[in-house]
Amino acid sequence: MKAIQISQFGSNEALTYTELPEPELNPGQVLIKNKAAGVNPIDWKTCSGGGAAPFIGDLPFVPGWEFAGTVAKVADDVADFKEGDEVFGFINFPERAGCFAEYVAVPADQISLRPHDLPVEAAGGLGLAGLTAWQALFDKGQLQASQKVVILAAAGGVGHLAVQLAKWMGARVVATASSENHEFLRELGADQVIDYRTENITDHVDNVDLVIDGVGGEVGIDALRCVKPGGTLVTLPSVTKDEVIAAGKQMKVNVEPIRVEPNAEQLDRLAGLAADRKLQLQLAQTFPLENIGEAFDASRTGKVKGKLVLTI
Ligand SMILES: NC(=O)c1ccc[n+]([C@@H]2O[C@H](COP(=O)([O-])OP(=O)(O)OC[C@H]3O[C@@H](n4cnc5c(N)ncnc54)[C@H](OP(=O)(O)O)[C@@H]3O)[C@@H](O)[C@H]2O)c1
Repeated sequence: MKAIQISQFGSNEALTYTELPEPELNPGQVLIKNKAAGVNPIDWKTCSGGGAAPFIGDLPFVPGWEFAGTVAKVADDVADFKEGDEVFGFINFPERAGCFAEYVAVPADQISLRPHDLPVEAAGGLGLAGLTAWQALFDKGQLQASQKVVILAAAGGVGHLAVQLAKWMGARVVATASSENHEFLRELGADQVIDYRTENITDHVDNVDLVIDGVGGEVGIDALRCVKPGGTLVTLPSVTKDEVIAAGKQMKVNVEPIRVEPNAEQLDRLAGLAADRKLQLQLAQTFPLENIGEAFDASRTGKVKGKLVLTI
């Protein structure tokens, strides 16, 4: 099968498009004929030796944690899926998953059926960002209807899904993005949109129940001033979480770091919302698998509107 592999951590030159044996099927797994795989900042961070690199084990390594494709084979002990099922998922994180490949062996308890009218490319990009948005808003953030939530980096992979999920919950949503993305975010349901390049959110918003911080560092720390006493800021970038937590302690704001986890029940909920047209995934751009370097470069710009997806 064709796959992307790295033999040493490094920049794009470390990525090779190569021929590998199909993965073996172990108990509890299904083999996927893969059609689409989302690209996330964690992919290039990990391939550069940061991100989840400490969890990867010995190289070589096939990156990629999310996929959408067709079930090609099922282990004897798996009853929930059958050959030919169209499925998608986010698997094994932060350990290796191998989704940037034509075939992937995936744990049957971390995947979900793909709704018929959810395009395969969109499903391939939904797992990681969708589960991050869900777990940040509802597990860590405990968001309730009629509460007010600020979403930083709202036009990105996690942010644009978080805006829609927060609206579905009945919250009031304030989003930050460059002005060219404001109309997009209003269409997704944002009640108020702030251009972070020309305005400071603390001049416009206060007393919010929850902040979803998709930027981290000084931006996350600054946003602590919007949070009401007893409120929460969930900070996504792990590399700056300690400084945001320390600042939160000083300001008496609860700061929650997060590491997104595979969760089939929550994937089912996301799939249901997508089928009901309550959640849509914005495809920023698709790339053939072999053009992984271009996809990583696009992600590194920090300007992605929605999700980048590799097609296989
Ligand atoms: N801890 C976890 O489990 C976890 C899970 C998922 C993601 N993450 C992390 O969370 C972060 C966001 O992930 P993502 O996939 O959503 O990234 P992404 O898709 O690459 O985000 C791109 C967006 O960031 C926006 N942006 C950049 N700087 C900004 C700023 N100062 N203020 C507001 N928006 C800004 C851009 O908005 P404009 O184009 O409008 O300027 C762009 O739309 C990344 O650091 C990622 O590694 C962590």
